Amino acid sequence: MQQIQTVGIVGAGAMGRGIAQIAAQAGLDVLLFDVNADAAHAAEQTLAQTWDKLVARGKLSAQAAHAARQHLRVCASLQDLAQAALVVEAIVEKLDVKRDLFKQLEQIVSADCILASNTSSLSITAIALACERPARVVGWHFFNPVPLMKVVEIIDGLRSDPSVGDALMELTRRMGHTAVRARDMPGFIVNHAGRGMNIEGLKVAQESIAPFHVIDAILREQAGFRMGPFELMDLTGLDVSHPVMESIFAQFYGEPRFRPSPITAVRLAGGVLGRKTGEGFYRYEDGKPVLPPAAAVPRVAADLKIWIAPWHPVGHARASALFNTLGAQIDTSAQPPEDTLLIVTPFGQDVATLIQHHGLDARRTVALDTLFELNTASRRVIMGSLAVQRKWLDAAHALLAADNTPVSIIHDSAGFVAQRIVANIVNVACDIAQQSIASAHDIDLAVKLGLGYPGGGPLSLGQTLGADLILEILRNLHATTGDMRYRASPWLRQRVQLGLPLTTQGSIAA
Ligand SMILES: NC(=O)c1ccc[n+]([C@@H]2O[C@H](COP(=O)([O-])OP(=O)(O)OC[C@H]3O[C@@H](n4cnc5c(N)ncnc54)[C@H](O)[C@@H]3O)[C@@H](O)[C@H]2O)c1
Repeated sequence: MQQIQTVGIVGAGAMGRGIAQIAAQAGLDVLLFDVNADAAHAAEQTLAQTWDKLVARGKLSAQAAHAARQHLRVCASLQDLAQAALVVEAIVEKLDVKRDLFKQLEQIVSADCILASNTSSLSITAIALACERPARVVGWHFFNPVPLMKVVEIIDGLRSDPSVGDALMELTRRMGHTAVRARDMPGFIVNHAGRGMNIEGLKVAQESIAPFHVIDAILREQAGFRMGPFELMDLTGLDVSHPVMESIFAQFYGEPRFRPSPITAVRLAGGVLGRKTGEGFYRYEDGKPVLPPAAAVPRVAADLKIWIAPWHPVGHARASALFNTLGAQIDTSAQPPEDTLLIVTPFGQDVATLIQHHGLDARRTVALDTLFELNTASRRVIMGSLAVQRKWLDAAHALLAADNTPVSIIHDSAGFVAQRIVANIVNVACDIAQQSIASAHDIDLAVKLGLGYPGGGPLSLGQTLGADLILEILRNLHATTGDMRYRASPWLRQRVQLGLPLTTQGSIAA
């Protein structure tokens, strides 16, 4: 296939404009068309201003900006795209409209011109159905804002010729972006992998485990994410995120991992959409979320002694190291002593389950989340059962905040907050790999660049935290709740069983 030089773009909205910008900057000849001629001319003006700004900020040379302008041409009719080697559509997200457009384009462009769709949620195979040559139709999914979001998904429909996707992989790289390859499945890679965080965050909130702002703070400061689920949903707006949650759930025929929450349904119905309406999960004043003041840290009693349950080797070792650093008086008796704070370190179990199983004193038992690095984390998380006494919870809080690290106290939850959200993120990513929607490498890359998750992407993150611990969390969550959403993907289970990294593709192709 010849190298692509002339690119037609249909739709000059947010996405079409962004694609036009990076294509023209990469020296491609861009033909931009929109049914609304004003939209196309407005895009041309905005792009000229963008290039001026980039020059003023020293991000682009005046020469390069001038060249980019020369490479952009606004077209008055679809016929003007006849010379394009590739046409990408970024028009309204409606299947019949996209199909009609591709049908019309087939009468205009050459027989080997590629037809690409920037759709986020429609099937590439379905869009191609009306075409005489469905082999030339492919998904080319950019993210918003296009110049800053450096990842692009290339999606093969059922009838796409692989060489068409290959050509777009090469072109994407020429445009300075990172290309990943996916099969035509709902949500492709990024919008599929993104289910793990919001859906589980909502489930945690629905169970009254912690308020929205506490869940967000835990995700950011304990687990190292840039944003928690509620901050993210407030940014996107529930008018966008709730229908996407419903659509992916429906497209996977009720897969429990993607079960949406009535929390967002009610808030959407009430117009509480997020930043765009001034109120979402947070209330905003001058663009900033209004947060309740943090609870005061209690004092540590001088005679406080703690006992750390020995049953979980990893949890016990991590908790012991931390409490030693904090100067706690640790009782090392084999059995829980009297009048001592009892610390347990569950992975995917709640405190009530451990109390019942080991016959612990419910009034004095407090659980510490030890999945994440405890010494460098900027937040620690504890929980007691509903029978815990305030004075013992305060004692644990005081001790764990002795080095000024903030402590979140949540209600008894199998998997705390971060364990269960992160385990779900890893599990969903594992299942994308299991379904051969994309390679393990591309899943990590796409999610790291598309969602900004920490640790090199969800599979690498699971590996770093310990794939065996992630599996243990999921198994305990599944056993405790009976909810199929927590069943472990075979991708995760088999790699743990064989001692292979989650990023391993497997040695024999199916
Ligand atoms: N906005 C995002 O965050 C985002 C991200 C990835 C993908 N997408 C997808 O990209 C596409 C465009 O999204 P957008 O946000 O740029 O939309 P937009 O509303 O900003 O722009 C769409 C443009 O297409 C034009 N248009 C509509 N129907 C047309 C037709 N039949 N022929 C020619 N022009 C037509 C409209 O006049 C408008 O200017 C959609 O499929 C969307 O799902 C959007």
